[in-house]
Amino acid sequence: MKHRPVLLNETIEGLGLSEDSVVLDCTFGGGGHSKEILRRYRKAKVVAIDEDRNVEGGENISLYHENFRNLDRVLQKENIEKVDGVIFDLGFSSDQLESSGRGFSFLKDEPLLMTLKAKPGEEDLTAKMVINNWSEKSLADIIYGYGEERYARRIARIIAEERFRKPIETTGELVEIIKKAVPSRYRTKKIHFATRTFQALRIAVNDELGALKEGLEKGFEALKPESRMAVISFHSLEDRIVKKFYKEKASPVGLWPRVEESKAVLINKKPIRASDEEIKNNIRSRSAKLRIIKKIK
Ligand SMILES: C[S@@+](CC[C@H](N)C(=O)[O-])C[C@H]1O[C@@H](n2cnc3c(N)ncnc32)[C@H](O)[C@@H]1O
Repeated sequence: MKHRPVLLNETIEGLGLSEDSVVLDCTFGGGGHSKEILRRYRKAKVVAIDEDRNVEGGENISLYHENFRNLDRVLQKENIEKVDGVIFDLGFSSDQLESSGRGFSFLKDEPLLMTLKAKPGEEDLTAKMVINNWSEKSLADIIYGYGEERYARRIARIIAEERFRKPIETTGELVEIIKKAVPSRYRTKKIHFATRTFQALRIAVNDELGALKEGLEKGFEALKPESRMAVISFHSLEDRIVKKFYKEKASPVGLWPRVEESKAVLINKKPIRASDEEIKNNIRSRSAKLRIIKKIK
């Protein structure tokens, strides 16, 4: 299924851009947001980042295959000091989840990679390494911490037993193991029983939360005064990080009597959610939360 941009209007309007804005799109993907910005603002320019090499740019778009935690390096290469808007549309696109062949989907039988990079090198961590080499305790901790999976300990236990017999190589094998570990009533829930474990592995393999913290800090730093950053997140761990980061920036700094003004203001206190109409057309938007912040100085 082709990826559909989520909260497109809300994000672009929320950024408050002008005709010749320079925008940093940290998660370019299929370019849904960037291309719409260029369509609406004819003289705008987009600097785009996506770690996935299968992603391609377009006119008025300078695309870099980098992790967004290195966005400062990208701006340096472009000779750009500050930008008029920053976008993060986190996670993975529908195309990546369904047809990357890298093991993101529990509905397919693929090698256990789960890397953002299309072709991971020897030095890159993969899901297979995590599953087969990390201690049972570390596995339980990430499945619980990053997946918020209540059967984390049981799943980690069965993984440890199975890999002792033979290395776990594919998503199909992993799904069977998870199936064995969880009670049968859990297998018929609305959310697929492997969802949380897969989410946890993806987050661990790509250090997604570490990258997000670094990316947010550098993205905010790159904003001109009076410019805005928009972040769309898809699960509570990400949203918590964004919310905390925004709160810090929007709070006064220092102790009395040396209290300085805050560095930013929140454009929306509550996250913006997709309309019923959008959710009907794109189920992915159901869990999306958009938060926008404006830098003061
Ligand atoms: C949800 S998609 C973006 C979709 C895009 N806004 C659109 O409308 O087509 C997220 C993209 O961000 C990329 N991505 C996720 N985390 C990243 C990171 N830390 N560094 C660079 N790219 C990342 C993924 O490869 C994916 O292509």
